[in-house]
Parts: sequence; structure tokens; C-alpha cells
Amino acid sequence: MLDGKVKASEFPLLYHITPEEGLLNDPNGLVKFQGSYHVFYQLNPFGTVHKNKCWGHVVSEDMIHWKRLPIALAPSEYYDKDGVYSGSGIVKDGKLYLFYTGNVIVNEEERKSYQCAAVSSDGITFEKLGPVIEHPIGYTRHVRDPKVWQEEDGSYWMILGAQTEELTGDTLLYRSEDLLNWESCGSLLQDKPELGYMWECPDLLKFNESDCFLFSPQGLPAEEKRFLNTNQTGYLVGKFSQTDHFVSVSRFQELDHGFEFYAPQTFRDGERTLLYGWAAAMPASNEQCLPTIKEGWVHALTIPREVALIEDQLIQKPAVELKQLRVNEEQSTFSLDMAKEYRKTMAHAYAELVVTFSQHTKDFVINISDAFYLKHRYKEQEIIIERKNWETGQMEQRFGFYQGTLTDLTIYLDGSMIEIFINGGRLVFTSRYFVYGSQRELIITGELGAAEGIIYPLALQ
Ligand code: FRU
Repeated sequence: MLDGKVKASEFPLLYHITPEEGLLNDPNGLVKFQGSYHVFYQLNPFGTVHKNKCWGHVVSEDMIHWKRLPIALAPSEYYDKDGVYSGSGIVKDGKLYLFYTGNVIVNEEERKSYQCAAVSSDGITFEKLGPVIEHPIGYTRHVRDPKVWQEEDGSYWMILGAQTEELTGDTLLYRSEDLLNWESCGSLLQDKPELGYMWECPDLLKFNESDCFLFSPQGLPAEEKRFLNTNQTGYLVGKFSQTDHFVSVSRFQELDHGFEFYAPQTFRDGERTLLYGWAAAMPASNEQCLPTIKEGWVHALTIPREVALIEDQLIQKPAVELKQLRVNEEQSTFSLDMAKEYRKTMAHAYAELVVTFSQHTKDFVINISDAFYLKHRYKEQEIIIERKNWETGQMEQRFGFYQGTLTDLTIYLDGSMIEIFINGGRLVFTSRYFVYGSQRELIITGELGAAEGIIYPLALQ
């Protein structure tokens, strides 16, 4: 939703960031600059395929009402002529610096990656400063996605997603005093887990006691209930220090269990850490069958989420700003008793559903028309989501487990997007689902004990 207009579409999204035309992928350069939130994103403005990558740009005071700005960075120089790939933003001396990867096709066999910088005083027009890092020895051309942050002592640090010449995923660490001269510090991880052949979009999230290394590995073999998308996103919990780099103390955990989630990025906003992800179509082969393709646009970012680390788990909650969307006067509340069915026809496709469960909750199903099902299996402490695949028409499933008891669930519905937050954001699912027309039927069946629910219609106000 931008400039007060919902995009004319059969599947309009009201409060998610979408491209005006073309293909959107990773969130880039997330930053608060001169009092406004800036969200950049990978954009092919010329078509719905992965080519001509630029940085699309939107700006907002509240992360709800967005204004579209001109494309911030587009291919133009020898070092980025075939794509301005993903990266991050940071403010220094009142200027906004962007770091990105320039993609260059030398010939059929040879491609190159350059890690580049750009700078702006107004946050709207950017001057390219060119490459700032030499290509590391021992790595293939798959080195990209610079994420930059500042440490308390004033030094700047950068991590890059990388592939070693042995074709394993890795993350490289660099240090700088001025954002322009960078020295190599080797690998981010001392003990690198064997996870796929390439790690994309690395990010380091710093919390009080522990830190979190978030990344998107490619090439993890699918398991029965995990790693079922084309590529995965997950994290390791540990501690970053300038001397030891990142020492991890946990195993790799998936961040989002839905069908559509990849390449997230975080940024600091005062005391909180916010995250946007790319609601990517997975499996990627489905992408060109997405119903919006015929309207000339494809994909969206997730809603902004506040992330926190509780013990060894990264939890995600919808940013509080989203509460502004609630049309409070029209909310409907309901109680769900054992073995009763609750049905509600929602007049439009934008709603927030909040349910709190009692200790008597057992198995139940929530379905949105006949296109999306959420199933709770209490003995297994499992949530299964099921939707109709838009390519094959077959139902398909994704899985997630919680610990303890089921306490609460929040569902954000926005046109063809659904985001589900369970148990205070400990278990999260992002997915697209397609229902024609603006009505949605919400049906809840099963044994819910004495659960209480609220449905808020959502609108831009
Ligand atoms: C992740 C990614 C990044 C790359 C960008 C190109 O989706 O492959 O690694 O920078 O997309 O659009």
C-alpha cells in the first residue's frame, strides 16, 4: 500500500510492501534516517523475472503509510552493470551510506561480484562510491549481500554471504574505521556448521546477553517436516566479539515455518530490533504461476516484526504500529466451547484474528474459505498449515512445533497474504493463498476448550 492507494489488483495487499510493477525480492538497506523509515528492496522494474536488479525505495513515518520514491540504485557502472544486488544501510555523520553487491556478467562462463558503497545526504538521491572490498581468495564469485553495523567502540563491521572454493557456505567478516577502507578478518564463524553450498543474506542481531547469526543457506536437503522450501532461512544463537568473532552455542533453527519466507534483514530502531522478510514463492518453480504474474507484478515483503531472543529462541511479533490498522468499532469477539463450530463471513480480505486458548484446547482446525487451513495437533504440539498450490491445485503442507502448551495465536490476513504468530511469536508461518473475490469465510472447528477470539477488520486510517 503506497501513497494512500491500494494497488488495483484482483489480490490487492493493503498493508504489505509490493512492487508497483515487476518483481520484488529481498528487503535491503533497512534504516531509520532523519526520522523516517526507509525500506529498499530488490526490484526488477521491467518484468516479473529475476533480472535487471535495482533497489526499489519506499519511505514512511509509521511503517503503515508508505510513499514510493524513485529507484535508489540501478545498474550503471562497470562494477554493477548486470545488477545492484542486496545489501544494507547505515547512517554516519548525517549521511546515509548503502552497501550492495554489484553483479557483472563478463561472458557466458564468467561472472564477478563487487562489494560497493553509495552515499546520500537527503535519503533520496545516491552517489555511487564504487567497490570497497577486494574479492577474497579461496571463494567463488558467490560473495554478496553486505550487512554493516557499528560496534560500541565506534568501529564498523561488515559480513558477507559467501561460497568457498570447496562449494560450502560461509560468512566473511570485515572491519573499518571510516566505512570506506575495510580490512579482512576472515570467517565470521570459528566452527562453521556444514549447511548447504552457499549462505545468502547474513545478518548479526545483537541482544543483551547473547547474539544471533541469521542467514539463508542454499542446498539443505529436505527432511520430513523441515527444510521443505527451495531455500531456507534460519539462525544460530551465540556471542559475537571482535576478537573471537561469532561463537555459536545452538543448532540451526528455521525462523519461519511457512511456504513463503526468505532473505530477511533486521535493523535497530531505538531499543528494538525490527525485521522484514521476503515473502518469496517457494518452491521457486511456482513463482511464474503466481496469479499476480498476469497483472505484471509479483511478491511482497512481510509485515515488520519486532524480534527478541528468549533463551535460545528468536521470537517475532508484529510491530506495534500494525495495531493502528484495527477498526476497533467493528471488532467482533467470540468464545469457543468444546466441539462447537464457529463461522464468520468476513466482508473483506483484511483482518487480524487473535485467539487465546485455555488449558482444555485440544485438536482444532481454522480454515479461511477452502484455500488455507491451520491444524492443531495437541498431542504432537504441532501446527500444520495447508493450502492449495496455485500451480497444481493440490493441497500442500508445512509444519511447526511448539513447546509447553498452546496459549495464543495471531493471524494477519491481507488479500493473498497470511502471517501467523503462535505463542507470543515463538512459532511463525508466512504464506500466500489465493481466494477470488473480497469475502473470506472463517471457520473454526474442533475442541477449543474455552478459547476466546477477537476479529479486527483492518483498514488504513
Ligand atoms: C537472495 C539473493 C541475494 C542476492 C539477491 C539478488 O534472494 O539471491 O543473495 O543479492 O537475491 O536479487
